[in-house]
Amino acid sequence: MTATKIKTRRLGTHGLQSSAIGLGCMGMSEFYGPSNEQQSIATIHRALELGVTMLDTADMYGPFKNEELVGRAIKGKRDQVVLATKFGNVRDPNDPTKRRINGRPEYVRQACEGSLKRLGVDTIDLYYQHRVDKNTPIEDTVGAMADLVREGKVRYIGLSEASIATIRRAHKVHPISAVQTEYSLWTRDPEDGLLDALRMLGIGFVAYSPLGRGFLTGQIKRPEDLAADDFRRHNPRFQGENFQKNLELVERVEEIAKEQNCTPAQLALAWVLAQGDDIVPIPGTRHPERVEENVGALKIVLSENDLRRIDLAAPKGVAAGERYAESGMETVNL
Ligand SMILES: NC(=O)c1ccc[n+]([C@@H]2O[C@H](COP(=O)([O-])OP(=O)(O)OC[C@H]3O[C@@H](n4cnc5c(N)ncnc54)[C@H](OP(=O)(O)O)[C@@H]3O)[C@@H](O)[C@H]2O)c1
Repeated sequence: MTATKIKTRRLGTHGLQSSAIGLGCMGMSEFYGPSNEQQSIATIHRALELGVTMLDTADMYGPFKNEELVGRAIKGKRDQVVLATKFGNVRDPNDPTKRRINGRPEYVRQACEGSLKRLGVDTIDLYYQHRVDKNTPIEDTVGAMADLVREGKVRYIGLSEASIATIRRAHKVHPISAVQTEYSLWTRDPEDGLLDALRMLGIGFVAYSPLGRGFLTGQIKRPEDLAADDFRRHNPRFQGENFQKNLELVERVEEIAKEQNCTPAQLALAWVLAQGDDIVPIPGTRHPERVEENVGALKIVLSENDLRRIDLAAPKGVAAGERYAESGMETVNL
């Protein structure tokens, strides 16, 4: 089946293009409760049919299982995909809840070889450092990533959750095409200088968890809606009083979505898309019909007035609770 054409966006100034909305594959293997491989693969196939090109995974999701799943899904369809994966979060094989960060050059090469094998491809389109390693100079890590580009194993490179200072240093070693950081109606941190800095440097932005890890869709009404092993149960925004307070924000989003004749998920994505044509949100889902719904956000046009109203309903800093527990917060903005 040939893919439908949807809007594309340019990430960075060196030629990387993506569908304006991508697909996050993480939840298909871990973190968000039980999943079903057949349904996940059908979801990826539906996304490709709809013209979504950017598929986002990482070696730590699963761990490793998510790259293998994506590899199986894209077999025979490689030319339809802008394949993005990440390295650097190393899970303890005996206890995957424990992680460390490794950005050492020899590890970068080893991780890339592993990802290529699991994904079943010769080249990764966009290879990110998942978290900055404070014990390895960024110049060394990005130097090793640049070698992979020269060898044809990687086409473009990216960083995730890096600070502006680190991005500037990295960009001097090799052009960074995209920075991936959390951005949504309830996580506005990139507006504190990051988006401006990226625009000045000519670097694209990939917005992860654009649906607030599902919360902004209005489908999660009680903490008990989440499976016992769901990662979100330990996320501050999904706990106790914070959960209840954040529900008020979702109610306001639902109200505006109703007026716009769209779903809350579509409104949340349309808002991210409206923040600049250098931004590509990558909502995650394991359901083909939700991919259809999410891609539908591309049709929603928000006027200046709509955007002002949404801003009043979900003002910056409104979310109750940090976006990660303490150990997670220590690994961002480095
Ligand atoms: N760089 C990083 O450090 C980092 C961190 C986190 C995530 N990511 C990437 O970003 C991607 C997206 O982020 P995310 O998955 O954390 O959060 P998200 O996209 O904000 O939300 C995903 C959640 O929303 C639900 N959902 C999706 N579409 C929906 C719809 N139309 N209606 C109702 N519910 C819907 C999904 O459930 P179902 O699956 O059941 O549909 C899932 O639980 C991930 O897959 C991953 O690739 C990167």
